[in-house]
Amino acid sequence: MKTIEPNSSIATPETFPPPSMAVWQHNHILDLDDFTREEIELVLETADAMAEVLTREVKRVPTLRGKTVVTLFHEPSTRTRASFELAAKNLSADTVSLDASKSSIVKGESLIDSLRTIQALGADIIVMRHSQSGAPYLAIKHVNCSLINAGDGWHAHPSQALLDLYTIRRHLGTLTNLKTTIIGDIMHSRVARSNIWGMTTMGAKVVLCAPPTLIPRGLDSFIANCQLPNVSIETDIEPALENADVVMPLRLQMERQQSGLLPSLREYIQLYQLTTERLSLAKPQVLVMHPGPINEGIEISPEVAHGAQSVIEEQVTNGVAIRMALLYLIAGGKNK
Ligand code: CP
Repeated sequence: MKTIEPNSSIATPETFPPPSMAVWQHNHILDLDDFTREEIELVLETADAMAEVLTREVKRVPTLRGKTVVTLFHEPSTRTRASFELAAKNLSADTVSLDASKSSIVKGESLIDSLRTIQALGADIIVMRHSQSGAPYLAIKHVNCSLINAGDGWHAHPSQALLDLYTIRRHLGTLTNLKTTIIGDIMHSRVARSNIWGMTTMGAKVVLCAPPTLIPRGLDSFIANCQLPNVSIETDIEPALENADVVMPLRLQMERQQSGLLPSLREYIQLYQLTTERLSLAKPQVLVMHPGPINEGIEISPEVAHGAQSVIEEQVTNGVAIRMALLYLIAGGKNK
C-alpha cells in the first residue's frame, strides 16, 4: 500500500525548534475538543521527526533526559501502555510503570492520594488510564505535573485519535473532505468520541454507523448544539460505507455493556460486520483501520483485518512516534 513518507527535510528532535506557545497551549492532554487545527498539525509534524528517529539503528535521543514519566493504568492495555513506555525510553526519560491492580489502590488508597504520591516521587509527566470518564479532569486539580489521558471510560482517548489522524495523513496526504466511517459500538467508544473532534477539526466528514441501541442517547442534539455539520449518524451499514475513504470498525465492548443492548451477536455480525463484499462499496483506495484490540470474526472479517487495505498494524507502529511527539511537546518542546 502506498505511503506518503515523512518530509525528509524536517528537523530531527535534536534540533526541532521549541513549539511556539502561540500554537501549543497544553500543560495536559485530556481530549482533542480543545485542540486547534494548528496544534494537531504541530503534533503530526513533530511525529514525523520522531518517526525518523525510529528508523535509526539506535532509536534513542536525549530529548527528555532527566525527566520522569510514570504510567498509571487502572484498566488493561497492550498498545497504549507499551507505546507510551517505549516513547518515553526512546526520548531518554526515566520511566516507572504502575499497574493499579498491583498498587496500593487495592489497599484502599484513593486516586488523588496515588497521584500525589507519584508526584512526590518526582514524576514530571503522568500517563493515566482510568475506567471512570472524567477521572483525568479531577486528577489535574490535585497535581502540578503534566497529565496525559491514556483513555478514560467512554469519554476520550486523545493519543489514539492523533495516531489515527497521523496514519490517515501518511497514506492519503490530507484529512480535508475525507469520508471517514466509524462502525459499531459508538456508545462505549472513547476512540470514536476523540476522533469526532480530531477528524472534524482537520476537515474530515465523520459518519457514525451503529445499531440504534449502540448510538448514545442525545447524540443528534449534541451534534447540533456543538455545530458539527460534518458528523452524521447512520444505522444501515451500506450507505455508511458508500465512497468512504476510511473505515474504522470498533470492538463491541462487552465489558461495558448492559445486557439487552444487542438482540444477538449473530444478528450483529450479519448486519454490521465489515466484510470484503461490504468494503467494496467504499473507494478503491479505502483505508481499513481499527484501534484494537480486534475481535476477528465479529466486527471485522479476518480477510479484511489482514487484507491489502488494512493499516491496523501500522496504526500501532505510528503510536510510538505520536506518543514521543506528545511527551516532547508536553515537556515544553525543549531539546537536551
Ligand atoms: N487502542 C487501545 O487503546 O488499545 P489498548 O487497550 O491495547 O491500549
